[in-house]
Amino acid sequence: MEDISLTINGKNIICAPDTSILHAALENRIKIPTLCHHPDLEPVGACRLCLVEDEKTGRIMASCVTPVSPNMVVRTDSPTIRNHRRNIIRLMMANHPESCIVCSQGNRCELRQIAAELGVGQIGLYPMPHYTGLEEANPFIIRDLSKCILCGKCIRADHELVVVGAIDYHLRGFKSRPAAVHEMPLEKSSCTFCGTCVSLCPTGALSLKNTRYVGSPERESATICGFCGVGCSLVMGSVDDQIVEVNPSHREDAVNRSTLCVRGHFAHDFLTVPERLGNPLVRDDGELKPATWDDALEAVANGLTSIKKKNGPQSVAFFGSSKCTNEENYLFQKMARVMVETNNVDNGGYGSGRPILAFINDRLDGGCRVIPLPALEKAEMIFVLGADPTQSLPVAGYYLKRASRMRGIPLIVADPRKTELVPFSSLWLSLAPHSDCELLTALAAILYRRNSYDTDFINQFTKDFDLYREGLSSIDLERVCRVTGLDMEVMERAADLIEGKKVAFMIGQGILQQRHGIPAVDALLNLALMTGSLSGDGKGLYLLAKENNQMGAWDMGSVPDFLPSRQPLLDELARKNWEENWEVKLSPDPGLTIIRMIEEAEKGNLKALYIMGENPLRSLPQTDRVRNALNNLELLVVQDILATETTFMADIVLPGAAFSEKGGSFTNMEGRVQSFEAAVCPPGDAKPDWEILGLLFAKLGYSKTYSSLDEIRAEIAELVPLYSKLDKDRGESWINESSNLRLFRRTGEGEPIHFSPVIMTETESSDKNYPFTAILGSWRYHLGSGTRTGHSARLKDFALKGEVEVSPEDGERLDLKQGDQVRISSMHGSILREVILKKDLSPGLIFIPMAFHNNDAVNLIDFTELGQADLPGWKECDVRVEKAED
Ligand code: SF4
Ligand code: SF4
Ligand code: SF4
Ligand code: FES
Repeated sequence: MEDISLTINGKNIICAPDTSILHAALENRIKIPTLCHHPDLEPVGACRLCLVEDEKTGRIMASCVTPVSPNMVVRTDSPTIRNHRRNIIRLMMANHPESCIVCSQGNRCELRQIAAELGVGQIGLYPMPHYTGLEEANPFIIRDLSKCILCGKCIRADHELVVVGAIDYHLRGFKSRPAAVHEMPLEKSSCTFCGTCVSLCPTGALSLKNTRYVGSPERESATICGFCGVGCSLVMGSVDDQIVEVNPSHREDAVNRSTLCVRGHFAHDFLTVPERLGNPLVRDDGELKPATWDDALEAVANGLTSIKKKNGPQSVAFFGSSKCTNEENYLFQKMARVMVETNNVDNGGYGSGRPILAFINDRLDGGCRVIPLPALEKAEMIFVLGADPTQSLPVAGYYLKRASRMRGIPLIVADPRKTELVPFSSLWLSLAPHSDCELLTALAAILYRRNSYDTDFINQFTKDFDLYREGLSSIDLERVCRVTGLDMEVMERAADLIEGKKVAFMIGQGILQQRHGIPAVDALLNLALMTGSLSGDGKGLYLLAKENNQMGAWDMGSVPDFLPSRQPLLDELARKNWEENWEVKLSPDPGLTIIRMIEEAEKGNLKALYIMGENPLRSLPQTDRVRNALNNLELLVVQDILATETTFMADIVLPGAAFSEKGGSFTNMEGRVQSFEAAVCPPGDAKPDWEILGLLFAKLGYSKTYSSLDEIRAEIAELVPLYSKLDKDRGESWINESSNLRLFRRTGEGEPIHFSPVIMTETESSDKNYPFTAILGSWRYHLGSGTRTGHSARLKDFALKGEVEVSPEDGERLDLKQGDQVRISSMHGSILREVILKKDLSPGLIFIPMAFHNNDAVNLIDFTELGQADLPGWKECDVRVEKAED
């Protein structure tokens, strides 16, 4: 359709035909006051403040819901319009309490601002405030609906952006207000406390519960959430160098736009707990005692140097953090490789499935990144396996829910549990734990038998299809039904949904930490190739990164087998390149993963371990074994922000800064590099981790100085091709595509991607002593081991217990009722939990949320490497469940 020409306030404007008058005006910098409009929400025309006048007809229209029409002549500020607006504001004010002076919204109240702009002082109407109860029992949100102007933004945010449906209009007429069903308190509703409604409320009707401060922050700083791999863009408000408020940035290019989750919105109060480390500590006479920075760093430098000299570089290891910045990870691995001459460097992303991600990276030659989350809303079909992003990466979960509910995109969820995503799906494949490989191969076999595969794509971009289809033709589908627990009809329905579609696959910890994770992703890549579903809008692979900078830590080489820019250590050319870059000889010996580091420490071969920003005593399997290994070390250096189980064991503790207390950049799950600034200063004498590492480089005698963040960013930009824009970037950029595969180069050149032969995994016989399968998973209130979120006063006040989910059938069999204590035991350890009976959970399965009770659930799983054939993985384990004695 042709563009439309119209006039607004005498200015000629050309715009697309379905544009609203409001949008056309705003695009042309003509301001129209609004209260119910938000660019991320569907317009509803509730407040009538955006009235404009059609000069030709005299018609008064709400500009947010009226589309432009050809040759319209519009006035946005005629005396009539101003008069109407004043009356609307007067009516709202008559209904409003006179508590502006103590309202937490302060000068940011949009109602107050518009009243001032329109010169509404005395309202001249009989005041009729409609007082309703103040709701403030939950630790996150205060609802004072006497200040509600019924703009409906909260309800639309809840329905359209986060797709929860916790609140809706309640009652009619004068009594109408947004409320949870039956007006129950939020904490009893389905509210997830994402706070999105609060951020969008134009008045003080909804506010963040803040015990420390009421009013507008003095300073606002743009930063990136440091919890999960979505990398939400935040604005942190501070007063007196204390964070008093967090909101989404609302930036159009931000991955989260106007949304956040409960962690990103509310859990930052862990920053001010007494357990924050503010001073370097050095062990003296068995006790950790305060020390100067100079003494502490001298002790670290001397310790590392003498142990290396005495026992060789392989006796020293570095365990870094997928929560620290790119700049810090770069320096950390450089210190290991250049100053200590070891590749023994890893980061916490190991536990979030890096070995399996590395396998995908290898098969796609680096081509699995740069898939923006917004493209999901353009997908033809979405297939989620082993992931519940509504809990682990909630903002990614919002994308899925919107794609399904608002755009009608078919969604398949393959998960043994009925996750929160299942009600949004077209089909739930409730398969047996770790049978994803069988399921995916069976789906490929069904499609192959239907002759439904993308021949053009296969011919153009792949090789070895012949070998693969030979394997497919001999798949025993009856065996697959037995192994997966799915019947043939369900698998045929899944194949119906996939057939002829380009698929967006999303995988999470259920695959990345799984026993058969590698065969499962191998089968998934085969299916993706067969359906022509790699690379491009709305298709490809979404790999859920649990930790915020899991991708960046790997890109920076903070792993034992890759140099920066994801160049394999074993590649001689790559090594040579970095030898030239750093003017050193690099060790070709593969480094130790964190699991191997602990094993070598147990054997007494590893003598020194430098940990930055990780708490392995809480995050790794088998706490006692890890503790014994750390006890065996001659030197344990721990650089962290909080006093933890691990810092208590250290010989030297170096206090670092949290992400909100320093600048730098993170790389999210999409490969999006995002730079950010400090919102507040670190406590006491604590320093940003990059600064600590810079000082340590000097102590170790390195010729180059790292005295500013800019120096580090310049070096990364110069030497790491994927980050070549880092020195100029102060906003955000994208990683350049790194793959040499033909498909990702988008040219006729380059290597084709190979199909792998069909593999079926072995079915394990279960041990009768451990008849249940426990699935270990995330809950939205905590991240990872819960070291940080476990310190949040708000989350603690919410008094979550981390109950184990048991099916009602098993509950009856074991004589368990809701709230009973059970002992859950595996071959490796046992824990106590309260029970919650969960319908829709298959008998024989239990679910244990991680991070609760000091994350003691890690003691149930075996201390093994991830991504290795025949090893059990960290996701599930066989357990016994017994009612605990009182
Ligand atoms: S609570 Fe706030 S956002 Fe919700 S309808 Fe009232 S004023 Fe609007
Ligand atoms: S906090 Fe989030 S989930 Fe709860 S009502 Fe508001 S938008 Fe909905
Ligand atoms: S989704 Fe992840 S990055 Fe976004 S606010 Fe929540 S924890 Fe932070
Ligand atoms: S902004 Fe148009 S009616 Fe509220």
